[in-house]
Amino acid sequence: MRSLIDIAELSLSEIDSLLNTANDIIENPAKYAEKCKGKKLATLFFEPSTRTRLSFEAAMYELGGNVLGFSEAQSSSSAKGESVADTAKTVSCYADIIAMRHPKEGAPLVASMNATVPVINAGDGGHNHPTQTLADLLTIKREKGGFDNLTVGFCGDLKFGRTVHSLITALRRYNNVKFIFISPNELRVPEYIRESLKQDNFEVFETTDLEAVMADLDVLYMTRVQRERFFNEEEYLRLKDSYILTPEKLETAKQSLSVMHPLPRVNEISVAIDSDPRACYFKQVLNGKYMRMALILMLLEVK
Ligand code: CP
Repeated sequence: MRSLIDIAELSLSEIDSLLNTANDIIENPAKYAEKCKGKKLATLFFEPSTRTRLSFEAAMYELGGNVLGFSEAQSSSSAKGESVADTAKTVSCYADIIAMRHPKEGAPLVASMNATVPVINAGDGGHNHPTQTLADLLTIKREKGGFDNLTVGFCGDLKFGRTVHSLITALRRYNNVKFIFISPNELRVPEYIRESLKQDNFEVFETTDLEAVMADLDVLYMTRVQRERFFNEEEYLRLKDSYILTPEKLETAKQSLSVMHPLPRVNEISVAIDSDPRACYFKQVLNGKYMRMALILMLLEVK
């Protein structure tokens, strides 16, 4: 039995296989409509979500399975003091696979060590979000054809943005990927990630100035400033509008640029960009469902 807590647990050939399955689901959805008949997915969300929870649920329904779960900690027995370990043991009695989001980093790992069914990390604190990365990878693959030789700009809250951390972990395994980190000084990508990239001889460039690097980018991965991770509301208010992408700021960008964002967006991408053919963030939303379908099939070992 296998869980997915960190994107690094998947080999490159497994990621390739998931991408191929997702593309096949897109082409031939009817082939998959009963693959999980009789199976149940539990979505245990201790933190708010729109895309991740609903795309997991849509994924399981489109595979012919069923869904149970909760969407906030207050409606589970964790509000009465139940541990993550006991929750995982309990839900293993009712479901064949679990998707868990939790504000505490490492909680899905603890769940996976106690569950008797596969556990998928659906986002843990400011740490990791491997299934968002699968959605991002499918989007990049479909937009760019592959991952090698790309210059990828990550912009916004690179300190607390778990989707950023997971996507860096995935992209560093491809050839000649160049990383450009654009953030306020207070929200720089964590030092352990920067140092590890440098040790492995990646080309890493950090700046506070998005427009200065715009023309270099193949992918621009925008992120929101993560209010819920700040200890100080004043600090959040000071930093929240650090970057707002507008059509004017895209004037120097490549025509082939892909503008990505894991969403939710607050105001870091102007809605005027939604109709620009370079905007890919709603494609990411849909791709997330297909990659979660592929992942459920893999972890449940459905042929
Ligand atoms: N991208 C993402 O994780 O969105 P939700 O918080 O809505 O699930």
